[in-house]
Parts: sequence; structure tokens; C-alpha cells
Amino acid sequence: MKPRALDLFCGAGGATRGLQLAGFHVTGVDVNAQPRYCGDEFYQADALTFPLNGYDFIWASPQCQSYTPCSSIQRSRGFTYPDLVAEVRDRFSPSQVPWVIENVSQAPLRKAIFLCGLMFGLPLLRHRRFESSILLLAPPHIRHLRGMAIRGQVFTVAGCPGSRTNNRKSPGTSYPLAKCDEARLAMGIDWMKHREITQAVPPAYAEFIGRQILSSVARCSSVAGEHGAAADDHRAIDNPSVPETPVTRFIQKA
Ligand SMILES: C[S@@+](CC[C@H](N)C(=O)[O-])C[C@H]1O[C@@H](n2cnc3c(N)ncnc32)[C@H](O)[C@@H]1O
Repeated sequence: MKPRALDLFCGAGGATRGLQLAGFHVTGVDVNAQPRYCGDEFYQADALTFPLNGYDFIWASPQCQSYTPCSSIQRSRGFTYPDLVAEVRDRFSPSQVPWVIENVSQAPLRKAIFLCGLMFGLPLLRHRRFESSILLLAPPHIRHLRGMAIRGQVFTVAGCPGSRTNNRKSPGTSYPLAKCDEARLAMGIDWMKHREITQAVPPAYAEFIGRQILSSVARCSSVAGEHGAAADDHRAIDNPSVPETPVTRFIQKA
């Protein structure tokens, strides 16, 4: 049986696909219907109240309008957006299973790693940050050459529909934006509409993190096995207050 991941704010499932590739059975939750969602199960519900129990790992990609430069005009006109990162962190903190919160570079994430498409051999400039309850590692970042984007060798996928370029005054964001077919290729996503792709996590990022989650849980479990009761906090299968889940069963068998 596969370990179970919960993908909150799942959209059409960019992060979901990556977690599936890492080996999870994925349940997605989104407040809007997602006819193209690629996961194993889907609930149309509010991620801020959806029950968290029964999963081995929880992922959240809350809306980024509070933080992203794409919404700065609306914010300057007085629109306000909730600080969902803080709300989600408060929900996740008591959780006994590993969790990740994903968001844009400007989001108030703590001790976050950041990933870029070039780290995965994708022709993609799309920086996303990841806060987690466990230690995550990131590959080295390759310096971007602006000419590569301008010549169409790499693409920028961003959620500012209608605009072909980002704010040229903002360093690091002055690249041409990808059209739909370019975005599909660069992101490794072939099942979404353009608007959904602009919101998505590249599956390669989520797969990379999902694999770290699985191996970290397995590592903690084997350390706990060596050190007995002193390591009970890390060993869910020895702790009767932690319900048995597919990950703990999977570790028990290993
Ligand atoms: C940035 S997109 C997520 C993209 C997704 N992680 C992916 O990789 O494809 C944020 C999503 O959150 C959903 N959303 C916004 N508020 C929500 C809420 N309170 N509960 C559940 N979903 C919500 C939106 O409908 C949108 O699909």
C-alpha cells in the first residue's frame, strides 16, 4: 500500500503529480472544482478546515496574492488578501506527520529552501520556496543568463495572465513569459490549461521533495530502532499515540 499524501490548495495538480512520481497516493483539496485534477482522490472543500488526520504527509500551496509582485497593483488599490502561509503553518504545527508549505519567493516562509527549473534540467526559470517540518536539501542554483530567456532557450512561467513581460524594474523578473505550449514543455505538464499551469508547482520540484520526505521518515525510523525508547518521538510505529499509517507500515516492513 502506498503512503498517503494530502495536497491542500491542489489546483489541477502540479504538486500532486510530483508526489505521485515520488510514490505517494495523493488526495487533493481545492475550494474550486478541478476537472483536470490528476490525483488519486479529490475533495472540493476549504483547505483551512479540511481534516488532516489519516495522512502520512501534508503539502500546501496556498494562494500567493498577498506576497507576489503580480498582485502589487491590486494591493496598492486597497485590495487585501489573507496571510494564508501563517494560517496554514498554525494548522500544521501540531501535526505529527511531516509537512511542506510551498509559495513564491516573497512569501514569509521560515527556513525555506528554494528550487529553480534549471536545477532539474528543465528550460524553466520559476523560483518557488518550501518550508518544512523536516530538514530539506536543495541542489546548487545555476546562475541565469538573461540572453537564454530572450532567445527562448529557457522560459519564465508566471501568473500574470495577459502580460508578456514581468516588471522590468524588478531585478530577476525581467524575462519574457512563456506562451501555453512553451509553459507546458518547460514545466513538464501536459494536462492543464495555460491559466492552471501559471499557478502550478512543476512536478519535478514536488517529486524531489516527496522523495526526501520518504527517505527522512525512513531514516528517523531506523535511528529510533537503534536507540530504542529515547528516539520514540521520531518513530511513529513505536508511539501508541501516533496512529499506524501506510508510511509506518512501509517502514516496519523495511
Ligand atoms: C497556487 S494554486 C495551487 C496550484 C497547485 N499546487 C499546483 O501545483 O497545480 C492555489 C489554489 O488554491 C485554491 N484555493 C484558494 N483558497 C482555497 C481554500 N480556502 N481552500 C482550498 N483551496 C483554495 C485555488 O482555487 C487554487 O487552485
